[in-house]
Amino acid sequence: MKAASILDYRELARRRLPPFLFEYIDGGAYAEVTLRRNVEDLERIALRQRVLHDVSALDVTTELFGQKLALPVALSPVGLSGMYARRGEVQAARAAEAAGVPFCLSTVSACPLDEVARGVTKPFWFQLYMIRDRAFMRDLLAKARELNCSALVFTVDMPVPGARYRDYRTGFNGAPGLMGTLWRFWQAAQHPAWAWDVGLNGRPHVLGNVAPVLKGKMGFGDLFGWVGANFDPSISWKDLEFLRAEWKGPLIIKGVLDVEDARETVKLGADGLVVSNHGGRQLDGVLSTARALPPIAEAVGDRITVLVDGGVRSGLDVVRMLALGAKGVLLGRAWAYALAGGGQAGVAHMLRLIEAEMRVAMALTGVTSVAGITRDMLAE
Ligand code: FNR
Repeated sequence: MKAASILDYRELARRRLPPFLFEYIDGGAYAEVTLRRNVEDLERIALRQRVLHDVSALDVTTELFGQKLALPVALSPVGLSGMYARRGEVQAARAAEAAGVPFCLSTVSACPLDEVARGVTKPFWFQLYMIRDRAFMRDLLAKARELNCSALVFTVDMPVPGARYRDYRTGFNGAPGLMGTLWRFWQAAQHPAWAWDVGLNGRPHVLGNVAPVLKGKMGFGDLFGWVGANFDPSISWKDLEFLRAEWKGPLIIKGVLDVEDARETVKLGADGLVVSNHGGRQLDGVLSTARALPPIAEAVGDRITVLVDGGVRSGLDVVRMLALGAKGVLLGRAWAYALAGGGQAGVAHMLRLIEAEMRVAMALTGVTSVAGITRDMLAE
């Protein structure tokens, strides 16, 4: 099967990955209400069809945090990507660099910061969680600084992890010990292409940034235990002052869904915020990002760069999010599926699809530049 759309990559990922990995990417928290809302509310956004506006020359470039981007998108931090394809974070970072958009490396990636830095030529973004051990955080920040990471994305919507039932059903979570390992091994054995590419040749299977602090190997089976034990639920706005003081470059707060919290990010002196509910993976039942975005953009959009993610599965969705008030859009599952389905070439193709679909959407709404995509384009 050849992918013609991002949803085709989802299907390819389903075929290629062992279920415990596919469901980890694809799933959300609890009954997955918010996961569905993200997609459905965005799909419901109707645009005005406009005609005869000379759309022969379209400019899809933009600028975010002083960086010129070929498209108004970035690859959102997605944990464990090195398990979706061999050394997957490096492959995705290369595809993003070639396409002229930022790649954001997750704290809980398989490839550590330096491995990704060695794989690309330009700086990339780094995402950090609040971890109990502040010395460890400082070390990670120092490493990100040393490698010239061009933005720090600090994720605030995960003081505790949301329960994702699919992970229990597949044995990815809650199945420790030999039986759990055998269960996952059994699934992997039925996906030989993945078993060869990642299982055998994609090692080490550790959380690259975290392994050193644990002074040894840490298998993916331990991920959830580590998150529970080391993420810091005592985090408050006060703690972020420490971060603002430590990180002089662009600081982007990810996981804001409420106008009051958006105002706090401005007070903190952050450069950007991401309207996000973690792709419906945290509190199920919260608003979709398509609905949360407009009031936030309205309240703080003139003082801070408002980005968004959640449910974006096409270039048309990117245009919808920009019309709702975002200055840039982060892609999460879109690139995870493409990486699993086609490696670096898959991510590169996915970004070309986004661009092509954006161009069609702009042409048919009579808009010729990213700056021209405004609320005015909304049909209702
Ligand atoms: C994520 N997300 C995420 N966010 C983050 O800040 N750090 C992380 O390590 C991860 N890991 C992660 C793994 C997987 C498999 C997924 C699907 C998501 C959330 C991600 O950055 C983004 O907010 C959502 O994925 C956006 O929603 P869509 O585009 O996937 O619908």
